[in-house]
Amino acid sequence: MNSLIEAKNTIESKLNGAKPTIGLILGSGLGVLAEEITSPTVIKYQDIPGFPSSTVAGHKGQLVIGELEGKTVVAMQGRFHFYEGYDMSLVTLPVRVMKAIGVEKLIVTNAAGGINENFEAGNLMLIKDHINQFGTNPLIGKNDDSQGVRFPDMSNAYSRELLDLAESAAEEQNVTVQKGVYVGTTGPSYETPAEVRMLRKMGGDAVGMSTVPEVIVARHSEIEVLGISCISNMAAGILDQPLTHDEVMETTELVKQDFLTLVKSIIKKL
Ligand code: HPA
Repeated sequence: MNSLIEAKNTIESKLNGAKPTIGLILGSGLGVLAEEITSPTVIKYQDIPGFPSSTVAGHKGQLVIGELEGKTVVAMQGRFHFYEGYDMSLVTLPVRVMKAIGVEKLIVTNAAGGINENFEAGNLMLIKDHINQFGTNPLIGKNDDSQGVRFPDMSNAYSRELLDLAESAAEEQNVTVQKGVYVGTTGPSYETPAEVRMLRKMGGDAVGMSTVPEVIVARHSEIEVLGISCISNMAAGILDQPLTHDEVMETTELVKQDFLTLVKSIIKKL
């Protein structure tokens, strides 16, 4: 936990007393939201003790702290993925750091493949719940009781209150949203069609390679969570076409405006 304290001190030393209470984790292609933050303090991951530098195309690798819709927010432009080879404690370190600097509510976003056949590429999905298919858990190991309990409850992993608020924001802004269960897998290979059928039978509506570890740690530290997936493609085997990261980036580019409108209107209501 030493790197946690060092990271907290480094960040706070650059904030002139600003106290972000809302955290944003911006997924592939969704980092544009950070560009809307006014009076930003930008801190590159490489300048934060303990942070690895992000590597995936479409992920920038910096924290942006400032004002959005009248609230002080801290946004992660780019996250750390398990498939990059980082261990779970590193993947989730930013959430611990957010908690340490005072974040109470977290909006976590991602690009995901649609499993639910009623979805289409370009939809936004509010996450109702998740299924952890990582085959591991970021809380494995000695529990740090100062951070949270040994066996955290996950009944309300995604806050009902925030979900209701997001739905009313979407309605007001005329942004169509789906709701569903996000399945988190390690990646980096996309699923096979047989795996997608299995995930659908398990109750999944969308699948991606992030979010679950961060949300588990957020709940461990009693941060309230709202999750939003951008359905960047239909998962393997649903349409007769191969999946590419380019498609993921192209679709997120198309829904960018709706995504920005929705998240900004949610933040205004928080
Ligand atoms: N599968 C897993 N992760 C993803 C996908 C997908 O189809 N699309 C974007 N991230």
